Amino acid sequence: MEHSIALVTGTTSGLGYAAAHLLAGEGWREILVTGRSLARVQETAAKLASETERQVFTPLELELDTPSSVQSALAALVKRGRPIDFLLLNAGLVPFKKRALTEAGVEASQAPLIGHHQLTVGLLRANLLSPNARIVIAGAEPARGGVPLFRYTDVPAFAANYFQGDRTAAVEALIRNGPNVKYVPNNAYADAKLIVAWWVAALARRLPSGMGVYAVSPGGATATKVVRSAGWALRNLFIPIVNLIPGMNQTPETAARRYLQASEFGTDVSGQFFASKLGKFSGPIEAQLQPHLHDRASQEAAWQAVVNVSGVDLSEGAPVTARPSR
Ligand SMILES: NC(=O)c1ccc[n+]([C@@H]2O[C@H](COP(=O)([O-])OP(=O)(O)OC[C@H]3O[C@@H](n4cnc5c(N)ncnc54)[C@H](OP(=O)(O)O)[C@@H]3O)[C@@H](O)[C@H]2O)c1
Repeated sequence: MEHSIALVTGTTSGLGYAAAHLLAGEGWREILVTGRSLARVQETAAKLASETERQVFTPLELELDTPSSVQSALAALVKRGRPIDFLLLNAGLVPFKKRALTEAGVEASQAPLIGHHQLTVGLLRANLLSPNARIVIAGAEPARGGVPLFRYTDVPAFAANYFQGDRTAAVEALIRNGPNVKYVPNNAYADAKLIVAWWVAALARRLPSGMGVYAVSPGGATATKVVRSAGWALRNLFIPIVNLIPGMNQTPETAARRYLQASEFGTDVSGQFFASKLGKFSGPIEAQLQPHLHDRASQEAAWQAVVNVSGVDLSEGAPVTARPSR
């Protein structure tokens, strides 16, 4: 992949900031950095430029909860007309103690995927991803299970119990946190990252052959602001206890480096979810093999649910073909 233009979402703090910093250090020619408000992301771009001593950061306003903001960002990217080599869909959050929905009726921790889907499909339709582009989206270990206090939903069983076996309707209910969904913040987060992993697998089947997409858990990096909205037990019990165990936490830079590592992966592993070894939140990443992650019916149901909620699909409009090299 050419180290030319990268776009990183959610750069106003944490891992997005660290990733943008690392990309500059690796010689990327331009890094589009996004944030919910132009003023804040302009500040971020200026800070990054001063810390790295490189004038390569372009601020872009992008509020993923708001479809019109995604459309405006896309319009600005279309106007520029320069294809992106590395699309890093990092923005995300651990959900609030009290259930929060966006104006479009999407649960807050699910909303970044809906905005990221609108952005990615928009870029593909506009031929604004380079032929060998890499797309990386933030996943998290709870999607594979086995993380205390977090439990993902058994979607086939949930669909059978409440939606006559219709998994698309079941995933859509998780994205909207209803009907038939009891709000448990940590479980909503596990479901959001599970749906991310399934979306990646389904997107990989739809991408032009030179492109690759990966879900990557950055692992534990509690020095970011990720749990700012989380409940008391997670902030004051789970994380401090986990941090006492050697090898369960890492710096934001080390965590963000995983994204860059995945951007060099081949298309042979496109569509997979990479995370820490079982029982760990740091160290090397590996492809996750849990059967529920590889269930094709659930992957396709997740894709269709995201399409339904976002109102955007790849099959509409211009066919997706790889753009000729510049
Ligand atoms: N840190 C960890 O231990 C850990 C572990 C596994 C996975 N992750 C994942 O890593 C990613 C980055 O997290 P972090 O630790 O860097 O957290 P962070 O410090 O809270 O940064 C998150 C960034 O995403 C932005 N963001 C969130 N929702 C957004 C939305 N709807 N629209 C636009 N921007 C939005 C935030 O902007 P605002 O400041 O404006 O809200 C912020 O810039 C997340 O997807 C998270 O789930 C983190």
